[in-house]
Amino acid sequence: MSFFEHRDGVLHAEDVPLPAIADAVGTPVHVYSAAALRHAADSFTAALSILPRVRVAFAVKCNPNTAVLRLLADRGFGADIVSVGEMRRAIAAGIAPEKIVFSGVGKTDRELEEALAAGVGQFNLELEEEGEVLAALARGRGRTAIAVLRVNPDVDGGTHAKISTGKRENKFGVQIDGAVGVYDRLSRLEGLNLTGVALHIGSQLCDLAPLETAYRRAGALVDALRALGHAITRVDLGGGLGIAYRSEDVVPTLDAYAAMVRQVTEGWGVELIFEPGRVIAGLAGVLVTRVTWVKPSATHPFVIVDAAMNDLARPALYGAYHRFEAVQRSAERMTANIVGPICETGDTFASAREIDRVRRGDLAIFHATGAYGAAMASSYNCRALSPQVMVDGDMFEIVADRMLPAERAA
Ligand code: LLP
Repeated sequence: MSFFEHRDGVLHAEDVPLPAIADAVGTPVHVYSAAALRHAADSFTAALSILPRVRVAFAVKCNPNTAVLRLLADRGFGADIVSVGEMRRAIAAGIAPEKIVFSGVGKTDRELEEALAAGVGQFNLELEEEGEVLAALARGRGRTAIAVLRVNPDVDGGTHAKISTGKRENKFGVQIDGAVGVYDRLSRLEGLNLTGVALHIGSQLCDLAPLETAYRRAGALVDALRALGHAITRVDLGGGLGIAYRSEDVVPTLDAYAAMVRQVTEGWGVELIFEPGRVIAGLAGVLVTRVTWVKPSATHPFVIVDAAMNDLARPALYGAYHRFEAVQRSAERMTANIVGPICETGDTFASAREIDRVRRGDLAIFHATGAYGAAMASSYNCRALSPQVMVDGDMFEIVADRMLPAERAA
């Protein structure tokens, strides 16, 4: 189901023709669909309803826009954060601090303190020393921090190396082999209430098998911890579900995921926490751009658009594929190299891609940019951070202004 479709030859976001947004706000612009977000959030909740006790914490890193967070807060979502910047956003959007999970491999003492003061509901500890520091900070405030221990299950999620997190050599979590000892020691600390374990093996996972292996390893760890007398009440299963960037991509359905989780976690008797990001926001956003030039080349023509790697870094960083579609349908096709204006050859969205013929001045979109799109934007080349627009039915609203680096004192 797409909320970005052609109607009478013109691409719309829900009921709004994209040229109307481009005219009003300019390009490039990130456009989100509220209906798509609601659909994704409700589908996720519905799929997981076969599980007994569940909490969902949206991975703010994939789209920290306040309007997005507010919409998800209204649907009962909490937040998975990795910095106090994200924490402030989540709280400002109406997410209760107790529904916030603080992940992150390098939380600073200051961040831990600010999160304690705010009353964050769960700290995901990445190493033993972090637990000791958190316990001491909590004691100093006369508080007890609720925490889980993130383990590294040594499972290859089969995704891009740069977004794989669950292999032994990755920087995340404590090695699962030594986790019992670490848990045992931390559980004795005053100021810390250790309630269970967490794991997250990577992002854009298109196969359930590695997730299942990792979850089973977490289950074995829970058994081992219980055998030592630890009361395990929570397991945080992380995020990572992939989405279809190409029409032919095959990804697990939410129902298949939920069924696998139910089977693996049967009898665990814990509250399960999920940290989905991409699967909620990814397909709910597009990047609208205008063709600046079509330039002949030695091979295929360069379609030079006004969006660049600073607006959408994924192709440059991971060689990621984002479908390109002309806003006005054309009967003709062309094969092109789609590039941005930044002074690096890496500022390439697609090479030798067959697309609808576009000409100078035409509008087009990159699909599936709702997750890790605007979130990863920079102002490289002193370019503006592009605005963000939320569409809801036949209405649209600017939910982040265009911001030029010149506007920031530097
Ligand atoms: N939980 C933790 C601890 C994470 O590190 C992440 C993502 C998530 C949840 C959410 O994962 P998701 O459901 O979105 O896959 N910039 C990359 C993706 C980086 C993912 C980082 N961690 C990209 O554009 O593909």
